[in-house]
Amino acid sequence: MKLDIPFLLRNLTLEEKAGLCSGRNFWWTKAVERLGLPTVMVSDGPHGLRKQDSEGDHLGMSESVEAVCFPTGAALAASFDRELTGRLGRLIGREGRAEKLHTVLGPAINIKRSPLCGRNFEYLSEDPFLAGELSAAFVSEVQSQNVGVCVKHYAANNQEYRRMSTDTVVSERALREIYLAAFEKTVKEARPWSLMCAYNLINGTYCCENSWLLDDVLRKEWGFDGIVMTDWGAMNDRVRSLRAGLNLEMPSSRGHNDKKIVAAVEQGELEIAELDRRVEELLHWIEKGLSDEPAVSGYDREAHHAVAREAAAECAVLLKNDNGLLPLSKTADVVFIGSFAASPRYQGGGSSYINAFKVSNAVEAAKGTADITYEPGWQPDGETGDPSLLDKAVKSASKAAAAVVFAGLPDSYESEGYDRTHLNMPACQNELIAAVCAVQPNTIVVLHTGSPVVMPWLDKVPAILNMYLGGQAVGEASVDLLFGDSAPAGRLAETFPHRLEDTPCYLNFPGDGRKVTYAEDVFVGYRWYDSRSMDVTFPFGFGLSYTDFSICNPKLSSDSFDGTGTLNITVNVTNIGPCAGKHVVQLYVAPPVDGKTPRPAHELRGFEKVELAPGETKCVSFLLDKRSFAYFEESIGDWRIESGVYTIQLGSSSRDLPLSATVQVRGSALPLLWSESLTVGDIIAAGRSDALGSALDRMQQVFGAKAASRNFAGSQGMFDALADGLPVHSMASFIDVEYDFEEAIRRNLENNL
Ligand code: BGC
Repeated sequence: MKLDIPFLLRNLTLEEKAGLCSGRNFWWTKAVERLGLPTVMVSDGPHGLRKQDSEGDHLGMSESVEAVCFPTGAALAASFDRELTGRLGRLIGREGRAEKLHTVLGPAINIKRSPLCGRNFEYLSEDPFLAGELSAAFVSEVQSQNVGVCVKHYAANNQEYRRMSTDTVVSERALREIYLAAFEKTVKEARPWSLMCAYNLINGTYCCENSWLLDDVLRKEWGFDGIVMTDWGAMNDRVRSLRAGLNLEMPSSRGHNDKKIVAAVEQGELEIAELDRRVEELLHWIEKGLSDEPAVSGYDREAHHAVAREAAAECAVLLKNDNGLLPLSKTADVVFIGSFAASPRYQGGGSSYINAFKVSNAVEAAKGTADITYEPGWQPDGETGDPSLLDKAVKSASKAAAAVVFAGLPDSYESEGYDRTHLNMPACQNELIAAVCAVQPNTIVVLHTGSPVVMPWLDKVPAILNMYLGGQAVGEASVDLLFGDSAPAGRLAETFPHRLEDTPCYLNFPGDGRKVTYAEDVFVGYRWYDSRSMDVTFPFGFGLSYTDFSICNPKLSSDSFDGTGTLNITVNVTNIGPCAGKHVVQLYVAPPVDGKTPRPAHELRGFEKVELAPGETKCVSFLLDKRSFAYFEESIGDWRIESGVYTIQLGSSSRDLPLSATVQVRGSALPLLWSESLTVGDIIAAGRSDALGSALDRMQQVFGAKAASRNFAGSQGMFDALADGLPVHSMASFIDVEYDFEEAIRRNLENNL
C-alpha cells in the first residue's frame, strides 16, 4: 500500500508531526486516522518474537505470545554460516508477518568487548567481520518477508552496568574498525529499515543526539535511508536528538517530548524543515511495512521447531573429544547428569526472552534413541548443591559406560540488565563434574552457557560439547550430536580465556559508573590475545568435528595488490576423516612486519563453511578488497592501506593457520601536514627530505664530529633515533647556523603540499 507522503506532510499539523516522533505505547506507533495514516507494531527479536498483546515491558517480565525460540546470537554466530543465519532470519520474518508486525527489534550486533557483558548471549561475536557478515545475511532474509528489522544497539554499548548513562570513551579508530564495522556492513549490504540507537554516550554525547553517529556516518557516509529509533527510554534532549537524526522515541515520554518539539518550532529554535525531514523518513518507514499482499495467517510452528533443532546442532561447538569419545554408541549404558538435562538453559533473560511454544530436553529426547538413565546431580536451579543428589549421580556414573554432565550458567548468572563479575560456573557444578570424572573416565560435559566460562576440570574431562544457549530445540539437538545423528559444525565466535585477568579490558571494565575507557583500543578479542601471543583455553574460530580436514594448495590471483578491485584466493579443503562433516576455512590478513601503524597480529577477513563427504575435496575461494588490508587513519579521517608485504593466513582458528602466502600491497603515503609536533623522521618517511635543505647534513656533521672525538661506536644509531624523533621546532638547538630552520622548513613544506 502506498502512502501519499507529500499530501500527509502538507496536511499534518505541527502537533501531529511532533506526535509521530514518539510511540503510542510500548510497541505501537501513533496513527493519524483523519488522514488515513495507520499505526504499526514493533516487537523484540532477535532470536524469535516477543510479541506482547497486553501489558508491555522491556525486560521480558510480562507475558508474550507463544513463539519459536531459535538459537541465541552467541550460538548462531558459532555456526559461521551465512545461509543458516539467513534461513532463521527468513523464518523469523515469516513469523513476524503472521503476527502482523511491522518491525522485529533485532539483530543485536554489539561487539563482545568483555566476556562479562550480561547480554553477550544475544550478541554475535568479538569480531566485527563475522558479526557483519551474519547480520547482513539475517537482515536481508527477514526483510525479504516484508517485515523490517531494527539493528541494535548503535553503538558502543558493550556492557550492562550503567548501560543507560555511561560515557564510552573510545578512539574513532576503534569505533570504525571494531564497534561500527558490523553496522556499516549491514547498512551497506542489507539496507535495514531501521536502527536502534543505544542508551549510552560516546565521547561525551548521548547516542540519541550524536549527529556524527546518526547523520554524518550513518546517513551521509553509509547511505542509510531508514529511520533511527531510540532504545526503550534512551532519550535525552528531544530537540537535539531530532536535529541529530533521531526519528522515533520509544516507547514515549507521555507527550512531554512531543510538546518540546512543538515549542522549539514555535520559538524558532527548530526549523520546520528539520522536523519535516524526520517525519518524512518515518512515513517512508511506515509505508515499507504496509503490504498489499494477502495477510499471512499463522505459520507452521512444528516446521520452525525442526529448523531450530537443526540450527542448534549446526551451532554447537565440540571443544574437546579425546580418543573420539563422541559420538556415543546408542547401545551403550549412558547416564545423563545435571538438572539442565531435564530442563535445559536455552535462552537468556531480558527483552529477548521468548515464550517458547515448546522446549525439548535431552532426557526426553533420548527416549527412542538410547537407553539412558538420569540423575539431577544438583538442585534444579543449577546453582545449589545437594550432597545426596551428588552422591547418587556419582554412584550411577561409576556403573555406566559413559556419563554426560549437562552443566553451565544458571539464569541468575547472566542476563540483560547486569554483567557477570567472574567467569566461574557454580561451585556445585564444578564439584560434581570433578567427582564424576574421578569415577568415570568416559565423562562428557555438555555446556549451556551464553558466554565463556573457566573450566577447572578441563584436563580431567575427555569431551566437551558447547551447546551455548541453543534455543528451544536444544535438548533434541544435544542428543542428535551425542549419539551421532548429526555432527557438530560450530566454531567459536569468541575466545575462551584462561582467566578474567587475561581479558583485553580487564582493567577498564565496566568503568567507574560515569565513564568507561576503551583503553585496549582495537585490540579486542583475539586481536588482543594473538598480538600478545597469550595462551588461551580455546581460541577464536576453534571447533572440532567428528571427522578431520586438511587444506592445501593456496593460490592468489596475483602476488601484488594496489588497493583497487579485488584479490582472489583459493584453497583446497579435503575431508580426511571417517565421516561427513562441515569445515570452516578461515582467512586472516597479517599486516607488514615493518609497518609503522600499531595493528593486530592478524584479522579475520574471510570464512567459508563447506560440507564434505569422507575423502571429498572442494575448492574454497575468498575475495579480498581494499578494506581487507586497510585500517582507519584518524589523521585523514579515512581508511588507509600502508604499503608493504601482507601475509594471507589460512586455517581453522586464529591459532591454527598452517597455510600462508604473501602479497605486496601498494597503499598510500600519509599526507605531510605541518604541525607543531612534526619531526624530522616524519618528513623523511614521507619522502620529503628535500624540505630539510641542508639542515640534516649540518646536524650530522656536528654530531659526527663530537662522536668521533669521543670514539663513540653507537653514534650513527643514536643520531638516526635523534633525528627521527626530533621535532622541527627543536632543530635549532642542535644546529650551529644562524637562520630560522623551522620557518624555512615550514615554508618548504607548505609550498609543496
Ligand atoms: C533493550 C532493547 C529492546 C527494548 C525493547 C531495551 O531494554 O535494550 O534491546 O529491544 O528494550 O524491549
